[in-house]
Amino acid sequence: TRPPHPRNEPVRDYAPNSPERSAIKAALEQMSNQRVELPLIINGGERQTGRRETVVMPHRRDHVLGEAHLASEAEVRAAINAAVSAWKGWSNWPWTERAAVFLKAAELVSGPWRDRLNAATMLGQSKTIHQAEIDSAAELIDFWRFNVEFMRRLYEDQPISAPGVWNRSDYRPLEGFVLAITPFNFTAIAGNLPTAPALMGNTVVWKPAATAKYSAHLIMQILQEAGLPDGVINLVYGDGAEIAGIALADERLAGVHFTGSTQVFNDIFRKVGASIDQYRNYPRLVGETGGKNFILAHQSTDVAALATAIIRGGYEYQGQKCSAASRIFVPTSLWATLKTILCDEIATIRVGDVADFTNFMGAVIDEKAWRKHMRVFEEVRSSNAKILRGGEGDNRIGYFVAPTLIETDDLESRLLREEFFGPIVTAYVYRDSEFDSILKKIDRSGAYGLTGAIFSRDRRIINCALGELRSAAGNFYINDKPTGAIVGQQPFGGARMSGTNDKAGSMWNLIRWTSPRSIKEAF
Ligand code: NAD
Ligand code: ALA
Repeated sequence: TRPPHPRNEPVRDYAPNSPERSAIKAALEQMSNQRVELPLIINGGERQTGRRETVVMPHRRDHVLGEAHLASEAEVRAAINAAVSAWKGWSNWPWTERAAVFLKAAELVSGPWRDRLNAATMLGQSKTIHQAEIDSAAELIDFWRFNVEFMRRLYEDQPISAPGVWNRSDYRPLEGFVLAITPFNFTAIAGNLPTAPALMGNTVVWKPAATAKYSAHLIMQILQEAGLPDGVINLVYGDGAEIAGIALADERLAGVHFTGSTQVFNDIFRKVGASIDQYRNYPRLVGETGGKNFILAHQSTDVAALATAIIRGGYEYQGQKCSAASRIFVPTSLWATLKTILCDEIATIRVGDVADFTNFMGAVIDEKAWRKHMRVFEEVRSSNAKILRGGEGDNRIGYFVAPTLIETDDLESRLLREEFFGPIVTAYVYRDSEFDSILKKIDRSGAYGLTGAIFSRDRRIINCALGELRSAAGNFYINDKPTGAIVGQQPFGGARMSGTNDKAGSMWNLIRWTSPRSIKEAF
């Protein structure tokens, strides 16, 4: 039985006066003026706990979109028990029937739910329509359709047999429950993390980011409409450390599917280590974490293409992509021209409410993120680094941070090592003759290894960068921005402290959610 062969979902452009533009505008209008209840969903049922938290828009901080219910320990335990109870039934569903649920969910996002999910991502996470469309529509649909294809291929992978012997692999789900903890910045990742293990027959407790509850709520509704049985995925809101503390100490923990910051994943590892003697199985730990992604320009490159990559890679979605370019290495011979183009371009970037489709950037996610950026700017002002553009913010209406370009001549600066997760790009200018040594320095600077890019027209230089920077990026781009990996085309994941590199949107990720049994039958 072969499910439909997947194709990447076409990205809509929402051109002015198009029916798509009118529909998304109407959804935004309607959804920003209703106050939604966001209950927990445990064993298929809504739970209103009474411990409430408001959900606001980052770009209109006082505008309440809804109220979420937070889980206490009893609800977290109920979610774990519901997942464990659902396991026997769901893990025995034929894989084709499980696939059908997620293919149906993809159809629902592609069609009737597209505007609502995009609008929730725009309002709740401050994405522009284009950024929402490539995330909560195209990428989420792709994850669900392609994962079905990867599962099929995996199941087809069978050992060789011999005369009188039939060998086979039985791809069992993991025993117990999987804990999915998801970040705010990609609705598609939030939708993929609980569903990839579920597709493989596992059952899940899902804790989304506090600042992405609205889109998480809609994803759960979509999955239920698609026929996901009760208890297969259980949605709980609340404090990440508290929820993880309960789930990670449970002997039935089968695995963790995490995307978020490196510090939090390290904390998860420590907690799992502390409970290691009590688990029934070694939990699978899959985590995609932070990055300090680079663009390295060689003197042979086309400056206009490089500038576009820096603007798009550095500032789209306010620089809040794990893959965003946040440090650039530029040869002296190109810097004067590039600096002028970048400063001119940045001056034209419009920042504001995402309901205004002429804005290129919305707000950063919350007050904490905004304050962190203001502290960085203060620190830069009292250092030798120079702010060339931006370096300011305004939080009166929403958490707006100006697209910022900084120049430093200190390779050890935190500007070139730490992830700020916002619209700050730092440039380091090297002498043209020092290209070989800059390659080595990039490779050794900082702890991360998520994405990176080389810009050059010279194949020898490209090969050199490919070799020298082999461990410096799990996703490496040649003459392109380091963001925007597409499911099925560029499997995504980082090296070093950027994650376990289990490549989201690939068969390698799905392998982590199965425990194969080898069966030998002799005749
Ligand atoms: P975050 O680490 O603050 O939060 C991620 C999730 O962990 C949230 O659901 C949060 O509530 C939860 N959490 C917080 N503290 C916790 C704890 N002590 N124990 C367990 N869970 C806890 O990250 P974020 O701000 O939501 O997302 C931004 C980060 O995610 C950045 O570092 C970014 O690079 C990274 N990210 C990485 C990828 C990737 O594929 N490598 C993709 C997206 C985002
Ligand atoms: N698909 C996302 C990107 O590459 C993670 O930017």
